[in-house]
Amino acid sequence: MSLAPTGQVMTQARWDVVVVGGANLDFLVRGERLPAPGETITGDVSDESAGGKGANQAVAAARLGARVVLIGRVGADRRGDLIRQRLEKEGVATHQLRRDSEAATGVALVMVDRQGQKLIMATPGANANVSEEDLRMASPVIREGRVLLMQLELPIPIVERAAQIAKGAGRMVILDAGPGRELPDSVLQNLDVIRANAHEAGILTGRAVHNLEDARIAAQTLRQRGVGAAIVGAGSQGDLILSREGELRLPWQPVDAVDATGAGDAFTATLAVCRGEGLSWSESGPCASAAAALKTTKLGAQAGLPRRAELVKFIEARSVVNR
Ligand code: RIB
Repeated sequence: MSLAPTGQVMTQARWDVVVVGGANLDFLVRGERLPAPGETITGDVSDESAGGKGANQAVAAARLGARVVLIGRVGADRRGDLIRQRLEKEGVATHQLRRDSEAATGVALVMVDRQGQKLIMATPGANANVSEEDLRMASPVIREGRVLLMQLELPIPIVERAAQIAKGAGRMVILDAGPGRELPDSVLQNLDVIRANAHEAGILTGRAVHNLEDARIAAQTLRQRGVGAAIVGAGSQGDLILSREGELRLPWQPVDAVDATGAGDAFTATLAVCRGEGLSWSESGPCASAAAALKTTKLGAQAGLPRRAELVKFIEARSVVNR
């Protein structure tokens, strides 16, 4: 079995993917290179578009045909309205995306160079106000989802509580560990899957990740602390999946990269869709890897998130797994 050309609707769940996560407005500038501290340089392209890891992952899953709902907060402002419109256009349900009357919508400044490398600085704004009360109201939705997908742009107690609600209902819980933050074992123990890039894995485990061997050690540490499966990135050496079934290596996918922003979001969301559809690690991992690679070929966090047909075509054209 591999990623089917159309999504498989899971009749016993109302939602395929429930995202509890952040939404930002991204201000992007691209230039020849990234500026050094204290330096001002001139870019050649600018853009203003919907972003935030939660919103990006919701859109990525919806483009793969999943029924998706986003739980979170935006401000009662033009930026929040724009994000909501984008999500709805993509088919993401927004009835659990609250309008915060006190804080502005989250904002991210994204700088991208000619090689597609990025630097991001974000202010959480309304994302920081997602509350226990929001989760209490959203708990029936979390329980009705097949997969709960989260990131670390919301307060950690919210991530912890949402994971408890989903686990209590027997749902699969997947966490993208970006942006990098330390996590208590009480969060890790409720995760079926964690995905961390090299930088994030270093923060989580207290040990820098430079290569695949470091990634293996980080994944082992995360599993020992209670995570079901750990996926750790090792930069250009690709990703390593460590699960109960063993180890799987996902090589770096060479493409003409334009912008790495949102590549991790494409990876984790695709993994959530594939695992939710019952695909094995050796099927889900390469799909996620391919989605991340495809994302990097377009400028903007959501612009390059692939649709299912595009992803299936890309996977068929390449062999993306080494065991
Ligand atoms: O993962 C990419 C995202 O990180 C951007 O869209 C930006 O908003 C930040 O949250």
